[in-house]
Amino acid sequence: MSGETAKRLEFLRGELNRLNHEYYVLNSPSADDFSYDRLMEELVTLESLHPELRSADSPSLRVGSDIVKEFVQVRHKYPMLSLGNTYSMEEIEEFDARMRKESGAERLEYVCELKFDGTAVGLTYEKGRLVRALTRGDGEAGDDVTANVRTVRSVPLALTGDDYPQEFEIRGEIFMPFASFDRMNRERTAKGAAPFANPRNAAAGTLKMQDSAEVARRGLDCCMYFLLGGALPFDNHYDNMRRASEWGFKVSPHMQKCGSVGEIAAFLARWDAERKTLPYDTDGAVIKVNSLAIQRETGLRSKSPRWAVAYKFKAEQAFTRLLSIDYQVGRTGAVTPVANLAPVQLAGTTVKRASLHNAEQIELHDIRIGDTVIVEKGGEIIPKIVGVDRARRAEGSVPLSYVEYCPVCGTRLVRPAGEAKHYCPNESGCRPQILGRIEHFVGRRAMNIEGIGEETAVALLEKGLVRDVADLYDLKKEQIAGLERMGERSAENILAGLEKSKSAPFARVLFALGIRYAGETTAKKIASAFRSLDGVRNATFDELMQTDEVGEKIARSVIDYFGDSRNAALVDRLKAAGLRFEADEADAPVQVSQSLSGKSFVISGNFSVARDEVKALVERHGGKTAGSVSSNTDFLVAGDKSGPAKLQKAEKLGVKIIDEKALRAMLEQ
Ligand code: IVH
Repeated sequence: MSGETAKRLEFLRGELNRLNHEYYVLNSPSADDFSYDRLMEELVTLESLHPELRSADSPSLRVGSDIVKEFVQVRHKYPMLSLGNTYSMEEIEEFDARMRKESGAERLEYVCELKFDGTAVGLTYEKGRLVRALTRGDGEAGDDVTANVRTVRSVPLALTGDDYPQEFEIRGEIFMPFASFDRMNRERTAKGAAPFANPRNAAAGTLKMQDSAEVARRGLDCCMYFLLGGALPFDNHYDNMRRASEWGFKVSPHMQKCGSVGEIAAFLARWDAERKTLPYDTDGAVIKVNSLAIQRETGLRSKSPRWAVAYKFKAEQAFTRLLSIDYQVGRTGAVTPVANLAPVQLAGTTVKRASLHNAEQIELHDIRIGDTVIVEKGGEIIPKIVGVDRARRAEGSVPLSYVEYCPVCGTRLVRPAGEAKHYCPNESGCRPQILGRIEHFVGRRAMNIEGIGEETAVALLEKGLVRDVADLYDLKKEQIAGLERMGERSAENILAGLEKSKSAPFARVLFALGIRYAGETTAKKIASAFRSLDGVRNATFDELMQTDEVGEKIARSVIDYFGDSRNAALVDRLKAAGLRFEADEADAPVQVSQSLSGKSFVISGNFSVARDEVKALVERHGGKTAGSVSSNTDFLVAGDKSGPAKLQKAEKLGVKIIDEKALRAMLEQ
């Protein structure tokens, strides 16, 4: 792993030095700022994760803060959520039914808006002045981009009137109108620079630029769509936004109140066509419950509010030739057909590969090699094939015969009743499945075992040292050190990582097992409902079904998983290895106290328990946790080997630094 990292660092430094030279000396950049920033960001991150690999001549040091000023991360006062997507009127009907049921109202008033395709910002105003602009970041904390946002002409720096709240936040979308986008790309191509793929990337890239004078030149725009704060003028969204426009904000004039699904449908139909005449990109509409009281009542999901949904307009399409099909086998054995296409331009990018989903879809559309197919790029990143132009079918073409045998291990594929996908049933012998399970298990969001990346997992598998995830815990230092590009130190790292993983909370262990359909959130819900592995193992189908987020498919999958004696044996070995099979503090969703309420903590270093457990502890007492120290941090809880950069920053900002003991003492008070 560290060999791989060193190589990557060397590559990044070389590339960035070359780009710097082109930009500053030759004055003819070959990459856009966004790609440059991404490389630099990766370099900075890698160097901070691997201080031992830092180098005195790294471009990250030389350019320092002039060019790659790191944006300061600031916690959001209110989490910055995203929206659930819908694609059909049926889904909108379901949304309406759900909202009416939850609110108990017979009819609800909605506000329909256009969905601007840019990048979200949250602006904080105090006493009528813009004081801060944050990007979404991870939803909990975002980058402080105030200097850049100040250059956006449509963002008021001081408000008009005198009836705005003393302090409030307003959220909206920063976007690049087509006119600015075209002008900028013309200039870039003239200079020999790569044009931006689409206005959304251009807006996001520009907002993260270091030179705000350049940001100012690029002609960004900003439309507001959400007002937050304690003392809002009205208890409904629509009137608040109208009032906000009187204070000087740009609010979409195309916002419309709708009293029924029929009216929503009319709005959507109208704008699906008319949006093409707008001077900026929209990728859908947003439908919100107007009443703030009902918004509060219906509340939030983990990443999005319940009271609003996005409706995605039908995606852009293009025609191209289907050249061949590859079949990929995933961790769960699911086979995914992937189309190789004659390259085609679609919604700003060149598309060469597309997902074909499954055999059912191929049969349904009777897709054949050599066909002219319709490719579509919707909300998802990977384009998909949605149909065939039969009129252009070559004579003598033959229906496609779907693979019958696993392209990797040759086992006959199965297609379970009621499923559209084929699976390779050779769970214990098919390489991508074994490897996939190991990679999933050691992954950041699962057991988070440092030092084992893809490369190491492959090496362990190839040398026959590991056949399943329980084997990881039997590894000996000499065995790991004997692998190519590994040494004593990396072996020790891996063993330490494995040891540390033994204190990962039960929910993570459950997720790490890789039970089909049981994602991170589901695993958490199941862990906190059943409290132990035995609890989950002995749960009946009906008991599982009663768990939040668990439906028939997941319940069935959990039962099947433990019903397989091989899994049962694996789980027993993991238990013997010392993994946590009982829920504890870190799994408990319950709020114990509010003693840390309103306080923000950053937790860094090693503790008597896993770091995540310390985090959970803080949260359970009402505190907030963040990944990096900022002016909003109240305490840095520093454990053993706590990050020096964090300590320095805390010192500089006057953030209190405490240890684990002091934290626990605080809780006892
Ligand atoms: S409302 C809690 N309204 O779409 C409410 N979002 O896919 C959150 N967006 O994060 C957002 N136009 O960046 C809202 N009229 C609009 C919007 C809009 C664009 C963006 C926004 C949001 C994303 C969700």
